[in-house]
Amino acid sequence: MTVSDPVVEDVVATISRSATEIRQGLIGRRGTVEEENPSGDTQVEADVWADELLGDRIAGIDGVGQYASEERADIVDCGDDPAASGAYAVAVDPLDGSSNLKSNNTMGTIFGIYDAALPARGDTLVAAGYVLYGPITTMVIATDDTVSEYELTGGERTIVERDVTLPAEPVVYGFGGRVPDWPADFREYAREIERELKLRYGGALIGDVNQVLTYGGTFGYPALESRPEGKLRLQFEGNPIGYVVEQAGGRSSNGTQSLLTVEPDELHDRTPLHVGNDDLIDRLESTVA
Ligand code: AHG
Ligand code: MN
Ligand code: MN
Ligand code: MN
Repeated sequence: MTVSDPVVEDVVATISRSATEIRQGLIGRRGTVEEENPSGDTQVEADVWADELLGDRIAGIDGVGQYASEERADIVDCGDDPAASGAYAVAVDPLDGSSNLKSNNTMGTIFGIYDAALPARGDTLVAAGYVLYGPITTMVIATDDTVSEYELTGGERTIVERDVTLPAEPVVYGFGGRVPDWPADFREYAREIERELKLRYGGALIGDVNQVLTYGGTFGYPALESRPEGKLRLQFEGNPIGYVVEQAGGRSSNGTQSLLTVEPDELHDRTPLHVGNDDLIDRLESTVA
């Protein structure tokens, strides 16, 4: 099943065709490199390699005016100017959860396709989604009319679920950061949730979010005492994941408002990130000052 917008389909097909190669390419690229990325993360070889592979291919797509990635300081202008000619800007987290490579746990690739020059608000997204390198390589794609899940084999995309929606009854939760580093109001909220739901935390945003999308519940990486701006990146993680969950009937929040309404300052802005069922996000926003 293809996406109706030809440029979006071209970007999505490029990522899904690259996924098998990326999965294979993780082997032998598990070491860390000297450099840090613009957010100050230690980079593994696979972070840099996946970014170069995807950057070259996506920047070459007609109708893509900008490519930006969590691993690059600057935006890559690819000819058409997004603001002028209606070209799209593609923001990518080439390898999400790359610290899981050492422990051979879940990882993924996140993408957001913005109809605006970067850095952009999440409500300018026309499509977003992620590849999940789990026991099976799957891809979740959200557009303005639906969320679909595919299995990826040998560069082909096979639809496995149309109109993915967040289950109404929450079952799982996962919260990042250390408990003593949580602000008191979040700790109070977390204590309630821990008594009601089952813990699912795997250290990769997309693995943990896919659990929430599958079973219902909430994932949060909150503002921390040590890091009030949060850990996760708005353009590359918060907006795309917020868009997917909101299109699936759930909510996103930075603690006070939908992630998709947050005005970005810088390309690598961080944000507190919460997604999940409506009433869980309501409770979060009412307890977080
Ligand atoms: P990335 O590998 O792209 O830098 O993302 C890692 C992020 C996110 O995937 C995950 O939710 C979070 O870091 C986990 O943080 P902790 O290691 O602090 O739990
Ligand atoms: Mn990183
Ligand atoms: Mn990430
Ligand atoms: Mn990453």
